[in-house]
Amino acid sequence: MSEATAITWSGKSEAMFEIMLGEVPEAMRGMFRGKLSAVIAQKAQGGPAAEDHVTAVVTEIVPEPFKSNILKKFKELGDFDIKVIDTIIEKHGTSQDKLMYILHDIQDEVGYLPVEALRAVCNKTGIHLSTIYNVATFYKTFKLTRPGSHHVKVCCGTACHLSDKNGLARQIEDKVNASPAVSMEKTLCMGCCDCSPAVEIDGRIYKGDEAKAKIATLA
Ligand code: FES
Repeated sequence: MSEATAITWSGKSEAMFEIMLGEVPEAMRGMFRGKLSAVIAQKAQGGPAAEDHVTAVVTEIVPEPFKSNILKKFKELGDFDIKVIDTIIEKHGTSQDKLMYILHDIQDEVGYLPVEALRAVCNKTGIHLSTIYNVATFYKTFKLTRPGSHHVKVCCGTACHLSDKNGLARQIEDKVNASPAVSMEKTLCMGCCDCSPAVEIDGRIYKGDEAKAKIATLA
C-alpha cells in the first residue's frame, strides 16, 4: 500500500477526495490514495489543497465514465464538515466492532449518514464499504438521506392498513417525494389504532383526511 502524502485540506476538498477514491475498487484504494494525494499535494504547492485542486485532478486524469460520475457527486455534495469523521474515528478507533458507535456518532453530528461519510469511514478504517452499507441499511435507526424539516410517520400496522380505503399512505408518499422539506418513514402499529389510518406529522397524530389536510400545508 502506498503511503498517503500529508495534506492540509480546505473547504470540501477532503470530502471530494474521498468521493474520488470511492470510484476506485476497494482492493486498489490504498495504492490510489497514496498516488492521488501526491498529485493533489503537488498542485497545492505546499499550501492547503482546495476544491479546485481536486476537481482539476479528476478532470485531468480520471477516465470516463468515472469522471462524470465523480463530478456529478461533487455537485450533490452535502455541506457537512468531513473532519467530524476524523474526530469520531479517533475517539472509537478503526476496528470493525466499533462501527455501530462510529455510525451513531456521525448521525448525531450530521443528522443522517451521507454517502460521502460512509465512504470516508471505509477509507479511513479499512472496513469494507459493503459491510458499512449493510449495517447502515439494516438498522432502522440510521437515516441515509437528509431528514426534511417536516417528518411524517405512516403507520403500516394491520388496523391502519385495512382502514386506508382511500390510499392515504400512497398520497402521502407522493407528496413526500415531491417535497424535499418533508421526510417520511413507515412504522409498525403506533398504538393509536382508534385513529386509523393514523399518520404522525412532526410528533402529532392525525387521522385519515385530517392527516391529508395537514400534509397539504407542509412546504
Ligand atoms: S395499526 Fe396503526 S396505529 Fe395501530
